[in-house]
Amino acid sequence: MKSISVQAESSYTVNVGCDWKTEILRLSSANSRIGVIHTKEMREKVQIETRSDTQVYYFEVPDGEEAKSFENICRLWSLLGESGFTRTDLLVGIGGGAVTDVAGFAAASWLRGIEWIAVPTSVAGMVDASIGGKTGINSEYGKNLVGAFHSPSAVLIDTTWLHTLSNRDFSAGMAEVIKCGFISESRIIELLLGQDVKSLRLDHERVLSLIEAAVNIKAQVVSADFKESFAREVLNYGHTLGHAIEIHSKYTMRHGEAISIGLVFAAELASISGDLETKIVDLHRQLLTSLDLPTTYPRSAWNELLPLLSLDKKTRGSTLRFVAISAIGKTHRIEGVSPAQLLQAYERISS
Ligand SMILES: NC(=O)c1ccc[n+]([C@@H]2O[C@H](COP(=O)([O-])OP(=O)(O)OC[C@H]3O[C@@H](n4cnc5c(N)ncnc54)[C@H](O)[C@@H]3O)[C@@H](O)[C@H]2O)c1
Repeated sequence: MKSISVQAESSYTVNVGCDWKTEILRLSSANSRIGVIHTKEMREKVQIETRSDTQVYYFEVPDGEEAKSFENICRLWSLLGESGFTRTDLLVGIGGGAVTDVAGFAAASWLRGIEWIAVPTSVAGMVDASIGGKTGINSEYGKNLVGAFHSPSAVLIDTTWLHTLSNRDFSAGMAEVIKCGFISESRIIELLLGQDVKSLRLDHERVLSLIEAAVNIKAQVVSADFKESFAREVLNYGHTLGHAIEIHSKYTMRHGEAISIGLVFAAELASISGDLETKIVDLHRQLLTSLDLPTTYPRSAWNELLPLLSLDKKTRGSTLRFVAISAIGKTHRIEGVSPAQLLQAYERISS
């Protein structure tokens, strides 16, 4: 097991490659009530054994984004009230990013903040959603609009969860790992070269190394910049077009799938600006395609994507802003891109 430290409101560790049940037992010794937040599908797997004087409550939430609804958080608040949860009790969110986001927000909002532990079960949850302290739910006006920074007291990454994850969700999460490789860590790229989904999923040690490397990067970046200025913005590599595609696809695409296309777009944009060699752009396509991730989007969608790009929170005023790389591990910002350059980059990735 590797413990990676994150400095946020307070410092906590991400235990990568741990046995989550053992860790929960160890970490909850002072809590008299534990509320486990999980989906129905996970019910059998999330049962925990604790000391006899600890009461464990199981709070079921809907799967996927439904967990992050206003109705669901209200239901959770009622369940916490009925069960008499106090400031010294503990919530444990076990699931994909949607579950850990809502569990974290329930913990942030109940009694103005109680302790919680994240047990991510998807790749996206392990390398992204559970780290960085952002918790939240969706509003009818958009995703993640209501939330709070409220870091967990620990993140427990047990990769045995991944055995049941679909190939689609495995690959979607890997898009964020590939992103980490390009913004910061050539070892990630080396570990992924020559791999496809099947070979990678069979190689548990490699998956563990990739997750550990990606967690390290996110932990370093958020520790340096907890509330998001430019240092944290590097994590948005590929996300400017990616977010627009996610919205345009009406969320039928996984976040990681949309980011995959956004990564190639950002690389093409840097190449057009003369900042990035073509072979690195090609490497983006090679790695993403080998994990069955999409790298193109319909040409006809451009006129609808353009206004969505301007909605992206990384834009400032009327200026579009992209995170770009000039080499593996070398990030910079591209601002003031002309409409002609944007279209040229989009033409290179559209079909
Ligand atoms: N808080 C943050 O900083 C942050 C960062 C990135 C993403 N997110 C959020 O995370 C969510 C996306 O995360 P996600 O991709 O994990 O989505 P998700 O939670 O919707 O999970 C995707 C699917 O995988 C299933 N699943 C999860 N683990 C499984 C397992 N071990 N076996 C079988 N099935 C499993 C889920 O039930 C779901 O159907 C979004 O809501 C996004 O907004 C938050």
